[in-house]
Amino acid sequence: NHIINHAHSLKSRSKPWLAPQVPFNQNTGNRNRPNRMRLPSQSLFSKTIALLFSKRSTRTRIAAETSAELLGGKALFLGREDIQLGVNESARDTAQVISGMCQGIFARVGDHSEIEASLELAKYSNVPVLNALSSLWHPTQILADLLTLHEHAWAFNNVALKEEKKNAKRTVSKLPELKPLTIAYVGDCANVLNDMLVTYPRLGHKLKVAAPLKYRPPTEVMERVKELNCDKGIEWFEDPKLAVQDANVIVTDTWISMGQEAEKAERLKAFEGYQVTEELCKGAERDWKFLHCLPRKPDEVDDEVFYGPRSLAFPEAENRKWTIMALFDLQFGRWNLDPEQPET
Ligand code: CP
Ligand code: NVA
Repeated sequence: NHIINHAHSLKSRSKPWLAPQVPFNQNTGNRNRPNRMRLPSQSLFSKTIALLFSKRSTRTRIAAETSAELLGGKALFLGREDIQLGVNESARDTAQVISGMCQGIFARVGDHSEIEASLELAKYSNVPVLNALSSLWHPTQILADLLTLHEHAWAFNNVALKEEKKNAKRTVSKLPELKPLTIAYVGDCANVLNDMLVTYPRLGHKLKVAAPLKYRPPTEVMERVKELNCDKGIEWFEDPKLAVQDANVIVTDTWISMGQEAEKAERLKAFEGYQVTEELCKGAERDWKFLHCLPRKPDEVDDEVFYGPRSLAFPEAENRKWTIMALFDLQFGRWNLDPEQPET
């Protein structure tokens, strides 16, 4: 919640300032601008964040690079082909070298051996290391999803948007409260779902998951779910129609995650009947909303839902930026993720 609130505040302060359509009044200078239009903290001034990415990325990379810049710092993109890691050099040595020159590491890794390497990286790095996606987890995605749900709380609370906007004007810095929701996930139990499993039940939301038995999460994820007491807030289904009953939010992800391309034919067959459509979701709440981390294929959600008014996929994509910016500011800029600690 601390990170989401911070992201909301950074967004409401930065966005109008960035928007080219905001006219600058030469006669009055800044006086006519609302208070919120000020530069975000320059907590990354003279700092460099290493983006250690061994997989492709559009959103996460752009979010990281543009946020580092807004915070006064630099993000250094280091792709698989760019550095010695994994070919000529160990993760341990790489961690020590990067920590000598950079002030944070944002790492996107692939299969299990790379996850092991990233654990080494975290162990031997002297600077914080954040997960930018692995085959098991995608924590920063859930931050963006949560911010997006808060911003659309009016849709779930049956409050007219106009009323909500009026209130928002009065308290610009306050993030709208979110009532406990029923969130349905339909599709492949991959990294995004895994982080939903360990997050939403702890925030009081009910999670209903529909997936073929063969594609349920691996044991290590389920152990973590249990350890965090999240299992009581989750219901499992094979039939997607049952999972979406009474849902406020319906979420899906690609059926073929990065690295699973060879399983494409098998997966397309296994997930037949799981495509999110208006017809499939007839039993959901009348005003249900749709989330997707992107990139999207029409297999898992049809165009009517994906490009329709229920879809929050593009605001969600933009919110990758504000949530990653909040994380960079707090973790790499101030080294302070503790909400109790005063801001410096
Ligand atoms: N949602 C997401 O992580 O997108 P990218 O893979 O493009 O970064
Ligand atoms: N499950 C997808 C998420 C992409 C953001 C993948 O790992 O490819």
